[in-house]
Amino acid sequence: MRHSVASAPGKVILFGEHSVVYGEPAIAVAINLRAYVRVDELDGNYTVIEAPHYSISKRIPLGLLLKPTLPDFPGMESVLEPIYVCIKETIKRFDELPKPFKVRIDSKIPPGAGLGSSAAVNVATAAALSDFMGCDVDLKEINSIAYEAERIVHGSPSGIDNTIATFGGAIYYKKPEMKKFEVRSELPLIVGDTGIERRTRDLVEKVRRLYDRNKEIVSRIFSIMGEISKRAYDYMMEGEVDALGTLMNLNHGLLVSLGVSNIHLDKLVHTALESGALGAKLTGAGGGGCMVALVKNERMEEVASSMRKLGYSVYSTKLSKEGVRIEESCG
Ligand code: PMV
Repeated sequence: MRHSVASAPGKVILFGEHSVVYGEPAIAVAINLRAYVRVDELDGNYTVIEAPHYSISKRIPLGLLLKPTLPDFPGMESVLEPIYVCIKETIKRFDELPKPFKVRIDSKIPPGAGLGSSAAVNVATAAALSDFMGCDVDLKEINSIAYEAERIVHGSPSGIDNTIATFGGAIYYKKPEMKKFEVRSELPLIVGDTGIERRTRDLVEKVRRLYDRNKEIVSRIFSIMGEISKRAYDYMMEGEVDALGTLMNLNHGLLVSLGVSNIHLDKLVHTALESGALGAKLTGAGGGGCMVALVKNERMEEVASSMRKLGYSVYSTKLSKEGVRIEESCG
């Protein structure tokens, strides 16, 4: 039976979360933790979506996928909704009905932790299904399909997560523009996950309240964060990794001052620094989720193991230049 497999990377925000909402630049990079999606031909009249991580398997009558508007699907689990949108949007771009198929998600990116797991799954789904339907994988299309699906999850997402998952590498983002750029270093990173779920929207609102009450001060903090991102961009282009670590530490301090860190993130950051990281900071919205440390290759083991000893999940990773990738093609 025919099958296709695609994968796409997760991301970390290295600089500029929160200040980016106020028009300052931010930098995000793809990391080599990936989501894998496999599409298999099936007998019968159903499409099946399987997400073993969530112990979910859903059968959708094939005809439903061709309805022009998203039909209500009673009992559709919210984690599957964006995948369902991806499938519909991908199929819409072809004239003919595909053969019945099963979509199976296998993600190595922890979900709900600000690492872009949903975008990576969406991008990989659109790519695997396009390949399964015998088409060239057009990156721009994949990116816009995944963006549609992201809107279901986030309301009005910045588009960073799907762009990074599609194209890989590093992105310099200043609303409304995004530019991809070359990093002249391997950028070894360790991600520590507090395991604490948080909603990005709540943290963005918390910062908004602080800003409304203390505009003169907080706007200056944002502007310094913007300066940090600009300088980080230069250092990344030049491969100045050590100097980048200092900028991460400065950025973390400012995020603490905005009230978006917590004791878990701070413990991980301090432990990483004490055991030899070049720099460390929370990544994404804060309030839980993850932090990231920049570490020299030879110190990776030592730093990761000290962080692990605190009892958190720890991932050794690095910048992934590659975005979405067809792992197995049926073409
Ligand atoms: O938690 P994440 O990784 O989705 O990042 C949120 C980043 C913010 O700057 C806090 C919000 C945003 O929309 O840019």
